[in-house]
Amino acid sequence: MAKQRALITGITGQDGSYLAEFLLSHGYEVIGMVRRSSTVNFERIKHIQDKITLVTGDLLDEVSLIHMLRDHRPTEVYNLAAQSFVQTSWPQPVFTGETTALGVTRMLDAVRIVDPDIRFYQASSSEMFGKVVEVPQHEDTPFYPRSPYGVAKVYGHWITVNYRESYNMYACSGILFNHESPRRGLEFVTRKISNGVARIKLGLDEELRLGNLDARRDWGFAGDYVEAMWLMLQQDQPDDYVVSTNETHSVREFCELAFGNLDLDYRDYVVMDERFMRPAEVDLLIGDSTKARTKLGWEPKTSFPELVRMMGDADMKLLKEQQR
Ligand code: NAP
Ligand code: GDD
Repeated sequence: MAKQRALITGITGQDGSYLAEFLLSHGYEVIGMVRRSSTVNFERIKHIQDKITLVTGDLLDEVSLIHMLRDHRPTEVYNLAAQSFVQTSWPQPVFTGETTALGVTRMLDAVRIVDPDIRFYQASSSEMFGKVVEVPQHEDTPFYPRSPYGVAKVYGHWITVNYRESYNMYACSGILFNHESPRRGLEFVTRKISNGVARIKLGLDEELRLGNLDARRDWGFAGDYVEAMWLMLQQDQPDDYVVSTNETHSVREFCELAFGNLDLDYRDYVVMDERFMRPAEVDLLIGDSTKARTKLGWEPKTSFPELVRMMGDADMKLLKEQQR
């Protein structure tokens, strides 16, 4: 059988790096799309850089996507690239829409033009449920996005469904709940906490400034979630799936555990800061991933305490190495 070839947009991001590792371990040839920047930002993929092919392209430029597909002819496309930070989507709503919403159409349309048989995965989000109208949230729960990012992801989801129905393309939307790891960007709350705790323990900081401690999320491990993305593209029929742990925890609980792991009490260090509050909040997310579990045979392998521990240990190690 010919070697499977996957193209990953967003390969320099958290999920892109785990997915690339996963696909390499399954014998895939991996093509990664990277956008031009003045400084190289391959930190998350430098350990596999000699095993993958990097090509320049941008979700804002459809011509670059068409060239990339024509030149490399992947069998699967994983569209992970996005302006993914919810908070930034308020000050940059148009850019967020261009990338996170219209970018999906550009990628889908490039696939349709070059080879509509390419299997397509879209990185959709539990942020689409926003001000939830149902608990827990599953594939048929109506969307009520609460940020320009959430609105953009709703567009990305429906354009994926529409290309599937209009052109009979194998296009799937994976509605993934929050997933974290030591490779998470420092601006997201879990990594901000794991990094902040380690810095406090090492005497580098005295406090950690956070926003809403009462928000609840269904947090899993990114390394577990990329397997679900792949499984979605290996089925007989394309479909959409919720991927979640089916547990919810508050930011406060994350703090309690992360500080507690280093024998610290979060109440002595966490300071509420209005700057990190959002104009409209998503208060509660908790998924129901029964469909992914039954149809894909997927399930998360990492528990919440294991995730908090993994991230805390990794940040402590990293900071100690930097101090040497
Ligand atoms: P991430 O770490 O922020 O990575 C985003 C990636 O997108 C980066 O590689 C970034 O490139 C790239 N990118 C941004 N704009 C681009 C553009 N115009 N053209 C090409 N590439 C561009 O995000 P992540 O956590 O890995 O998430 C991956 C995807 O899943 C995103 O679409 C996100 O919205 C979605 N999602 C994430 C979660 C989660 O909890 N992590 C949950 C649901 C859905 P640079 O490195 O050059 O910035
Ligand atoms: N980032 C951040 N920083 N969030 C904070 C802070 C803080 O200082 N303090 C409290 N929070 C709260 C936010 O208000 C939010 O309710 C929650 O922590 C999680 O915030 P993030 O970690 O920034 O993630 P997110 O849930 O908004 O979005 C992530 O998950 C989505 C899936 O539901 C991102 O990865 C999105 O790309 C993804 O789609």
